[in-house]
Amino acid sequence: MIKNNRFSWRCYDLNSELPINWQSELLNISKKAAAKTLVPTSITSRESKLVTRIPVLTVNGVELRKEAPWLYTLYHGLFRDLAQLESTETVVAASQDIYGAVLNVQRGTDMRYECHIDSNPIEGLLYVTDHPKGTGGELVIANLPDAKSIDEVEKNNSVIYPVAGNLVFFDGRDRAHYVRSLVGDNNSERVIVAMNYYTESCPESSRPADLSAHLFGKPSC
Ligand SMILES: [Fe+2]
Repeated sequence: MIKNNRFSWRCYDLNSELPINWQSELLNISKKAAAKTLVPTSITSRESKLVTRIPVLTVNGVELRKEAPWLYTLYHGLFRDLAQLESTETVVAASQDIYGAVLNVQRGTDMRYECHIDSNPIEGLLYVTDHPKGTGGELVIANLPDAKSIDEVEKNNSVIYPVAGNLVFFDGRDRAHYVRSLVGDNNSERVIVAMNYYTESCPESSRPADLSAHLFGKPSC
């Protein structure tokens, strides 16, 4: 029997709404992604104690706004309007650009994204690259609360396969999730825009103080 608090998400195909060269522009910007090694000790981390380092590539939101102002406009406009449909409260974009809308990149077959929970009530993911079943790079989300590691997420989960131009919204505050490694060769690349939205009952001010330093190596200001 399916429990009524099982994980679910909403997905929009925005290919007809996005600027004509949106994908190639974001793929170009992804070449500028900064390398960082996550040490999964944030309050939001859900990694096994055996995992001590996770290499990631990110273009932070300040850089992304400079490189793709049209995306910043969508984050505050159409995407926010769609995110609004996820809540009865007013949904707002982040006031701090550094983590509002960022570009996350996986290259080759060794990288994956940290297993974690979200601190914001609505997460938006715009997929830039396609990763069909069997090619890795899928988002794996625990169906039920309390999973505290990849092994626990893998016991009972939902999987979102990235489709370019799809915008996904979900609440990941109590559902640990991570991104699997890519399958293939070292030229494989996964690119997404990850966006944070907030509400009055879960405002931006509740974002953990250490999270920006954890993800970007910089405190928010
Ligand atoms: Fe997340």
